[in-house]
Amino acid sequence: MSLDVDRIRSAFPAVSDEVAYFDGPGGSQTPEVVGRAVADTMVAGLANRGSVTAAEQRAEAVVLAARAAVADLLGADPRGVVFGRSATQLTMDMAGTLAKQWSPGDEVVVSRLDHDANIRPWVIAAEAAGAVVRWAEFDPDTGELPVSAVTGLLGDRTRVVAVTGASNLIGTRPDTAAIGLAAHDVGALLYVDGVHLTPHAPVDVAELGADFYTCSPYKFFGPHHGVLAAAPELLETLRPDKLMPSTEVVPERFELGTLPYEVLAGTTATVDFIADLVPGDGDRRARVLASMAAVEQHEDALLARLLKGLADQPQITVHGRARRRTPTVLMTHADRPGLEVYERLAADGINAPADHFYALEASRHLGLGDEGGIRVGLAPYTTEAEVDRLLERLAAL
Ligand SMILES: Cc1ncc(COP(=O)(O)O)c(C=O)c1O
Repeated sequence: MSLDVDRIRSAFPAVSDEVAYFDGPGGSQTPEVVGRAVADTMVAGLANRGSVTAAEQRAEAVVLAARAAVADLLGADPRGVVFGRSATQLTMDMAGTLAKQWSPGDEVVVSRLDHDANIRPWVIAAEAAGAVVRWAEFDPDTGELPVSAVTGLLGDRTRVVAVTGASNLIGTRPDTAAIGLAAHDVGALLYVDGVHLTPHAPVDVAELGADFYTCSPYKFFGPHHGVLAAAPELLETLRPDKLMPSTEVVPERFELGTLPYEVLAGTTATVDFIADLVPGDGDRRARVLASMAAVEQHEDALLARLLKGLADQPQITVHGRARRRTPTVLMTHADRPGLEVYERLAADGINAPADHFYALEASRHLGLGDEGGIRVGLAPYTTEAEVDRLLERLAAL
């Protein structure tokens, strides 16, 4: 089934013919129905989670519904869905928790391709535990992170391998399933940053080889918070820092303080919205998978159009050309700094920022230093006309 892009666009108050949002990798636009779910929950009568008052029961139901929704989105177990402020916060916390089990001389593997949110928490945790950090390098010409670049670093001291599901800078999708198999062979855990992958592809955390998987609903039409999914049995083995009166129960013991109930209601509405991108039958998980397959198809076709158009513009260099990738294009202009291109496009109603986008290690490894490049991200609401408009404006700069 293909996407009905007009129907999808009409669900987003912010999406119009005046502004083309190519800045989705930084945060997507939000449909009306998600905003309404947040507002309705906030004013419906809410208390802390509990079972006595209707307000307590409402908060309880909101949390359980959000865990079930995220589980349907990711193919995860709802009992292992942890909510937090952001993927960065959840990874920082989890790295600290896992590091309690490390000894001096243990090793963690990080990749140069990753957003810093899946690098620095491991570097910091390793430093505190006296563990060694091993760096998996990607090929700066192709943008590929070969499986061997990671597996060559594994050994019997490896405790965690941290790798992205997709690069938020150049779109590369490493083969995390193969990396996971090799990591598990040496008794290590695989921590996959799914923040950039989740908006662009059907996700199944087990198929991806992930013991831990993070994502951020604000990258796929939802509100601003973070999600971590893991098997509840694995979470049971971990002892995060927590307050004394707060519950020992999993996943709650990983969630510090009161959850943002209204935000979680928004996330449930987001997953329902995704499930309905391609209207169909079946349970929500099946509809999510069908919708995301259609999203991938739509975005792949637009990506091909964009790359073909850019190839005709000799002043533009595209960085990274991995075989498996998200529709995320990093480019530089031969004569104009990224900031100037960003500002001139913005003046024409085209949102495509220039930066390293926190994938600082990757930007430096690509030879783009701390400046990075102009990033164009495609979304289900992106049209061919918008891609053509971008290409025309770039050519006219
Ligand atoms: C690949 C990737 N990982 C992690 C993050 C950080 O996510 P959060 O803002 O939820 O901490 C981002 C945000 O841009 C990202 O693109």
